Amino acid sequence: MENKKDIIVYDADDQRLFIERGKALVAELAKDLGRQPTCCVVTFGCQMNARDSEKLLGVLLEMGYADKGEDENADFVIFNTCTVRDNANQRVYGRLGVLNGYKRRNPKMRIGLCGCMMQEEKVIEKLRESYRFVDLIFGTHNLYTFPELVCNMLESDRMIVSIWKEEKGIVEELPVSRKYPFKSGVNIMFGCNNFCSYCIVPYVRGRERSRNAKDIIREVERLAADGVKEVMLLGQNVNSYGNDLKKKAQEQGGISETVLTFPQLLQEIEKIDGIERIRFMSSHPKDLSDELIDVMAESKKICRHLHLAMQSGSTRILKDMNRKYTKEDYLALAKKIRDRIPDMALTTDIIVGFPGEELADVEDTIDCIRKVEFDNAFTFIYSIRTGTPAAKMPQVDETEAKKNFDMVLIAVQETARKRAGRYTGQVMDALVEEVNEHDPSLLTGRLSNNTIVHFPGDVSLIGEIVPVKLVECKGFYYIGEVIDQT
Ligand code: SAM
Ligand code: SF4
Ligand code: F3S
Repeated sequence: MENKKDIIVYDADDQRLFIERGKALVAELAKDLGRQPTCCVVTFGCQMNARDSEKLLGVLLEMGYADKGEDENADFVIFNTCTVRDNANQRVYGRLGVLNGYKRRNPKMRIGLCGCMMQEEKVIEKLRESYRFVDLIFGTHNLYTFPELVCNMLESDRMIVSIWKEEKGIVEELPVSRKYPFKSGVNIMFGCNNFCSYCIVPYVRGRERSRNAKDIIREVERLAADGVKEVMLLGQNVNSYGNDLKKKAQEQGGISETVLTFPQLLQEIEKIDGIERIRFMSSHPKDLSDELIDVMAESKKICRHLHLAMQSGSTRILKDMNRKYTKEDYLALAKKIRDRIPDMALTTDIIVGFPGEELADVEDTIDCIRKVEFDNAFTFIYSIRTGTPAAKMPQVDETEAKKNFDMVLIAVQETARKRAGRYTGQVMDALVEEVNEHDPSLLTGRLSNNTIVHFPGDVSLIGEIVPVKLVECKGFYYIGEVIDQT
């Protein structure tokens, strides 16, 4: 345990003690209710949040709660929030109203809020004023004190608000409950240093902190031993993995060469038996090295899918976005990757309606979409985020932005459709993920290039990597059949 200003900072060992205390408190609650208390963790936002939610659920299950899955009518509901665009915030406020209704019928119900949105002061003010029925509020920097916070909540009737303005180090080794037994996210770094002018993430997630390679490798080894076949390495910009560790080593007079770069980390993970697929997310184009392209090209395990956020195809807009590359840089990089690894699927993020964007800029974006031929793209209408530099720039007209967004979307759909069908008739390996949501006679699998394939098969195949013939392309997914391996 360590004292930091007026906050007491507990490490993972202390949190284990709180988990034990939590078990007793949940057992008491079970007596009161006459049944096992239930919990529900709802995730908004990105893969980082999804991974954090697995940690929250891991703690709650260990304390004795039963997981109610997606059913929000539970004894303890947590919303792990996102604030990257305003509509993410609005969804949270809307759904809090529904939770309030449940709480009126179940007065022992507890409601918790955490995640990126909680790092914004104006959100906390609003919650304190208008959402008094919320029991626990905490932020991204103190997520690992969750066991302690749950204990405090169960012992109190007051709203508990615990937000740290700044990140501390990285705390390893809290329990995790994985959504899928056969695949898992693995945080390799937290935070972001890039300060793209539209983006709130660096403000709510703090500066870049890389985990030590040995901790990451140990975690992946454990996952492999536990049956995980696919890992997704997570960071806002995985290409700058290790830069902070290198700097720290240099400052402390250590040997910075012993710190692994991201490509070197990938090579180490490739050596782990049992891991058959490696994915990672996200890559910033400005930091994508030739070393990484070489490692991907030579790897047997790194999946043939690269998500490389472009944001805009206009050099002028990219400059105002503080992305640090030009239209030509991006096109050259995409070409280099496709030339070296022809079967690599490229996907991207695009923002339309950024301050100052004109028709010529949108045309540049569409030109890039057509030239790169993205396999898919997430397109967003720019959302103003208070406190970011772009919020102070002259904003564009909403109707204009919507019109431009539709044009960009059509271009994306055209190229995506063109790319999707190119493997029809071929046999490719698919990791079988689940029973098809709409048709239980089908299984759903994912190809290395991230394309989905549905095919008839037995549930015992879930978690296996099987060869599937891609019989028919249905726009963005395939219908296939498993090839008999006997
Ligand atoms: N770090 C990742 C990267 O740069 O590739 C992106 C992470 S961000 C959570 C996901 C996407 O949200 C971004 O790539 C961007 O397209 C979009 N985004 C971020 N801020 C936005 C804003 N203010 N309005 C609209 N879209 C935004
Ligand atoms: Fe946001 Fe840019 Fe960081 Fe991605 S790289 S999280 S878009 S600031
Ligand atoms: Fe949202 Fe936070 Fe991710 S703002 S997109 S959940 S890092």
